[in-house]
Amino acid sequence: MFHGLTPAMLARMAELEAMDAADRTDGTPHGQRLRQVPPETGRYLAILAASAPAGRLIEVGTSAGYSALWLSLACRERGDTLLSIDRDPDKLELARQTLEITDSSELVCLAEGDALEIVAGLDGVAFAFVDANRDVLAPCLELLASRLVPGGIVAADNVISHAAEIPGVVEAVLADPRFDAVIVPIGSGVLTARRTRV
Ligand SMILES: C[S@@+](CC[C@H](N)C(=O)[O-])C[C@H]1O[C@@H](n2cnc3c(N)ncnc32)[C@H](O)[C@@H]1O
Repeated sequence: MFHGLTPAMLARMAELEAMDAADRTDGTPHGQRLRQVPPETGRYLAILAASAPAGRLIEVGTSAGYSALWLSLACRERGDTLLSIDRDPDKLELARQTLEITDSSELVCLAEGDALEIVAGLDGVAFAFVDANRDVLAPCLELLASRLVPGGIVAADNVISHAAEIPGVVEAVLADPRFDAVIVPIGSGVLTARRTRV
């Protein structure tokens, strides 16, 4: 995986990291910012996805395809594809470019639309990364609980950095017998939950 990062992937990652850093200081409106995971979270997600059981890999919140590029490493390893969902066509165009430049288009399928509507139509999920707006988190976790295969993994970002905006959501997952869960203090904080057999 990480030893297979090509010069084109590393160059695009560096470009997106610079764009994301600029967004945070140059007054770009919140909805237009890339709001990507940091690289260490990208590595963590790739390891989780590569280690998940057999089944579908999905991402909720594509932005410019930065985390999808990390997850594509797991796809290559597994011989699977990632379904990555976003409702913003401008962000998806950037993601399309990311995948094309890095020769990863065959590993990531981009879906434009509302995440909750699309996730509702899926089953057999082995790994899900949830990184959309805060209001999507709780309903998305509920949808995923019945769509994950036993042992399937869901990771949700920003649970430490934006804890105040999601009151009770993490606590509910930690107490939910359908999951074994832990808050991993990497990047903005990643709630990592494994579907139990209950
Ligand atoms: C934090 S960014 C994703 C960053 C990306 N995962 C990365 O690390 O490179 C959140 C994205 O979720 C998308 N989004 C927010 N709410 C959504 C919804 N209900 N359905 C689909 N996409 C949504 C936004 O358009 C935005 O691009």
